[in-house]
Amino acid sequence: MRAVLPIEAYLYNQLKAFRAGRRPHQDMRYMSRHMSEDEMKSLSAYYAQLPR
Ligand code: HEM
Repeated sequence: MRAVLPIEAYLYNQLKAFRAGRRPHQDMRYMSRHMSEDEMKSLSAYYAQLPR
């Protein structure tokens, strides 16, 4: 099992919040509304490993 970075967990939870409408934002609700769990996990893992 690979360790999940805190930033990755944060991004994943934000995507879930946008999709559920718990974090109000029109563009992000639109972007996240059809994302599957796996897609949200993969996107979060990808953005989390980008250099900051
Ligand atoms: C697959 C594509 C995308 C992913 C995975 C994504 C992911 C995210 C995440 C995780 C956040 C929360 C960041 C945080 O809390 O620090 C966020 C915020 C935001 N995203 Fe996206 N995003 C995507 C595409 C877009 C697009 C296309 C737009 C604009 C049309 C956009 C506009 C924004 C804006 C304006 C915010 C800030 C929302 C706020 O102030 O609450 N994103 N995005």
